[in-house]
Amino acid sequence: ATKAVILVGGSSRGTRFRPLSLDVPKPLFDVAGHPIIWHCLTAIDKVPSISEVYLIGYYEESVFRDFIKDSATEFPNLSIKYLREYQALGTAGGLYHFRDAILKGRPEHIFVLNSDVCCSFPLNEMLKLSQEKDAEAVILGTRVSEDAASNFGCIVSDTHTRRVLHYVEKPESHISNLINCGVYLFSTEAIFPSIRSAIKRRTDRPSRLVSYPSSDNLESSFMIDDEDDESRKNEVIRLEQDILSDMADNKQFFVYETQDFWRQIKTAGSAIPANALYLQQAWQNGSDELATPLPNILPPVYIHPTANVHPTAKLGPNVSIGPRVTVGAGARVKESIVLEDSEIKHDACVLYSIIGWNSRVGAWARVEGTPTPVTSHTTSIIKNGVKVQAITILGKECAVGDEVRVQNCICLPFKELKRVSHPIYAS
Ligand code: GDD
Ligand code: GTP
Repeated sequence: ATKAVILVGGSSRGTRFRPLSLDVPKPLFDVAGHPIIWHCLTAIDKVPSISEVYLIGYYEESVFRDFIKDSATEFPNLSIKYLREYQALGTAGGLYHFRDAILKGRPEHIFVLNSDVCCSFPLNEMLKLSQEKDAEAVILGTRVSEDAASNFGCIVSDTHTRRVLHYVEKPESHISNLINCGVYLFSTEAIFPSIRSAIKRRTDRPSRLVSYPSSDNLESSFMIDDEDDESRKNEVIRLEQDILSDMADNKQFFVYETQDFWRQIKTAGSAIPANALYLQQAWQNGSDELATPLPNILPPVYIHPTANVHPTAKLGPNVSIGPRVTVGAGARVKESIVLEDSEIKHDACVLYSIIGWNSRVGAWARVEGTPTPVTSHTTSIIKNGVKVQAITILGKECAVGDEVRVQNCICLPFKELKRVSHPIYAS
């Protein structure tokens, strides 16, 4: 059997996803009509040997309750459980902490997925490679530009055998443009001993006790770990730094290079490319969830059944309209996400933007962002010499007045924009 783990992180993470993560934990944010982790589950559900999935994170217990309940009906073949870390344990710490639960039923393999990526998740292909190579670990890789590569884990592999020769997490200088997608397949016999030896290496390593001469007390002496004091103190184990490099040296470690789409979902703006990619995937798969193309519905477009879109509004491509949203006559929405209970008044124009829950966009208003090339792996642009967010984002319950123009702005919740907003952090 095979199991899957989705690393969902916790409330101290997802800070770059603000202001959207102020109201919803990032893994549950809707792109293409579904929570980010629903897309992971959909891919996991296509692997016949998986029947158990763990969401591991340090959000409160209640956060995923409704999602898990809904998923039980939607994915009847999967048993989904949330396992809560008592504190952030790092990307491998949770795996280790919950090893008894994970190893129950003796699975041979586990998939580990970062929740904050948007991807076609070619899990069956990874499984196949693993079997062909008798691998102990398979990592999903993708090629990015040289500029972008150092923001990710970098993989040096043998082109012929696909074996991973070196792995360096966010290297300072360029080593490879094949990067870690944050999706792994491990044999259970390899991963847990690897984590155990990483812990052992850490405990064995001598640490320096440095005493700072301080006039009033002696408590100001503390341990300095050459690498990372935090990680030692907190039992944090990082898959990337502590395990993967070592696996490249010592294990049967292979890379499956995807030719399909892949993007990270870090900043709030990155939900726009993710939305576009998942909608395009649904469109290619002939999904019946999407709106029927019409002269003024340019596919792919997702419209929630409870939304009310005026027949003269023009939508798409790459638009998601959430529950109970109203879109007025003559409005234009393109490359955008409009969240629950929002209203776009008549003749308004919303481009490359995210309209937060229960917001209002006035008549003839323009809310605009800027497109970023898919290959750039960033959602910021330089405008008039200043780095600004490419995607305009309205937080929860914002209001844009009639005829007001908002460009490249991030607008915090409950704000009212009555006048023209230039690229600023409207707060
Ligand atoms: N449960 C749990 N506990 N999950 C965590 C923790 C933790 O302490 N820390 C991070 N995560 C989850 C995050 O929610 C996210 O889904 C994933 O682990 C990775 O997050 P980061 O640790 O922030 O790493 P990153 O996104 O900067 O980089 C990772 O992903 C890139 C691909 O998107 C690395 O694996 C890179 O090598 C990789 O290229
Ligand atoms: P396509 O190019 O075929 O997608 O048609 P389009 O011209 O509607 O889309 P485009 O990519 O040009 O981007 C949206 C356009 O809508 C912009 O050129 C806006 O000027 C225009 N627009 C601005 N305000 C409104 C409005 O209130 N209603 C409508 N329908 N369109 C507007």
